[in-house]
Amino acid sequence: MSASIKKIVAVAALCAAASNVAAQDKILNLYSSRHYQTDEALYANFTKQTGIRINRIEAPEDALIERLRNEGTASPADVLVTVDAGRLWRAEQLGLFQPVKSAVLESRVPEHLRHPDGLWFGFSTRARVIVYNKDAVKAGEIRSYEDLADPKWKGKVCMRSSSNMYNLSLAASLISHDGEQKTEQWARGVVANFARDPKGGDTDQIKAVAAGECALTLSNTYYYARLVKSTKPDEREVAAKTGVIWPNQDGRGTHVNISGAGVLKNAPHRDEAIKFLEYLAGNDAQRYFADGNNEYPAVKGAAVDNPALAALGAFKPDALNVSALGRNQPVAQKLYDRAGWK
Ligand SMILES: [Fe+2]
Repeated sequence: MSASIKKIVAVAALCAAASNVAAQDKILNLYSSRHYQTDEALYANFTKQTGIRINRIEAPEDALIERLRNEGTASPADVLVTVDAGRLWRAEQLGLFQPVKSAVLESRVPEHLRHPDGLWFGFSTRARVIVYNKDAVKAGEIRSYEDLADPKWKGKVCMRSSSNMYNLSLAASLISHDGEQKTEQWARGVVANFARDPKGGDTDQIKAVAAGECALTLSNTYYYARLVKSTKPDEREVAAKTGVIWPNQDGRGTHVNISGAGVLKNAPHRDEAIKFLEYLAGNDAQRYFADGNNEYPAVKGAAVDNPALAALGAFKPDALNVSALGRNQPVAQKLYDRAGWK
């Protein structure tokens, strides 16, 4: 073999090796606080469509954000998937995300469910609804979040703590619509109606309502749907004893929050990360993503096939940009504290 041919062979071998590395290199490092069975199909389908392998680290929301903070510029993470606009906002405040411009994401994800500069995008929504005891409250007797502060419900309201992200996001939306002063008055009114000090999660509140310990509470829709679909008869009984009211249907609509994702600032695989977000906005992924936790697809027209959600019926969601939920959060916490909502 002549020297020049040897050289060509060597270069060809090198090229082949390099393309092998590139093929192997098609990976995506995902940090996710989601842990639903349908997510397996969601990820497997992405790999099938794109050839990009997903390495996944799952942990609770706040732990993931803390981990990203500690890893800093050395972080291998490409995408953070988490719940609640308030948490996405916290990650944003810590400078963890980079802006993404994508025609697919901008056309598929409604404007009010994503960050204005593309730092994060909402892929499913959950509504915060009033849950009532059917023996104690007649449907139509309460119609809005504001009504929860009506003195007629004294001793009848159960709530989880004010430091909980869902209640912070709700107060943040009230601040946007009613102003800070009115929202504080509202919080004081709700506290005056407490049947007990705040404790437990959303499901615990629904159970207390079913047991008659209180007549009214607030819950995210997926907790209620889980009870409806439960394999445990006593949990289905809890759902049967309670009803759901879509608040503020006569006005701005029911408060909704998102589960969403953003591309991380130091993402080693930026292109793959954007591909993944675009994939999440596709019709199939929308169904998996939302249904995995009994949520609603963010993308209009994406089909849902969830009888528990279908039974709750259609509703008008609040069109407030969810980025306000994070922005108003510090004010919301202070106002809850002043109102004595523990
Ligand atoms: Fe939750």
